[in-house]
Amino acid sequence: MSFRKSLNDEVANALNEQICIEASAGFLYFSMASWASVRGLTGMAKWFRGEAAGELTHMNLFVDYLNDRDYQAKFATIEAPACDWDSPIDAFDMVRTQEHQLMQRMNDLIDLADKHNDHLTHSFLTQFVPQQIADTAEADDIHDRLTLVGGDGHGLILIDQELAREAEAHGG
Ligand SMILES: [Fe+2]
Ligand SMILES: [Fe+2]
Repeated sequence: MSFRKSLNDEVANALNEQICIEASAGFLYFSMASWASVRGLTGMAKWFRGEAAGELTHMNLFVDYLNDRDYQAKFATIEAPACDWDSPIDAFDMVRTQEHQLMQRMNDLIDLADKHNDHLTHSFLTQFVPQQIADTAEADDIHDRLTLVGGDGHGLILIDQELAREAEAHGG
């Protein structure tokens, strides 16, 4: 039986690029977890580790999808993540920016799949959408709560405990 590659090259390349994007997002979260960990923010560190694991899970799904569609996944160098922030607010400002970019990226990938009438890829991509929306909203939320407490240590500890609970609830 003969078959031809069913994935359009432009779509395949964009999905392959997503492997590095998810890995980079994961590395940034690992970096933030380490930053928080050495500053006594153990709940926040746990929350970051949970997010890091989530991004690597997404990366895996893209690798599987490409291979399953007979397009061999390729791997490239990823840039070192940032490792220094002035404050938790500063770190969450970066988290917020990253999650908004990831949400936009998901939208762009679905647009591209639609441009090529690739319903299979469209369907694959939609599995990420509810979680991406929730992650983006959560990042905004945490940033807002950190802004509310400002530099107050007690407030920060409360948020840290809350993040520990959230991380545990998500299996972190
Ligand atoms: Fe992701
Ligand atoms: Fe995420």
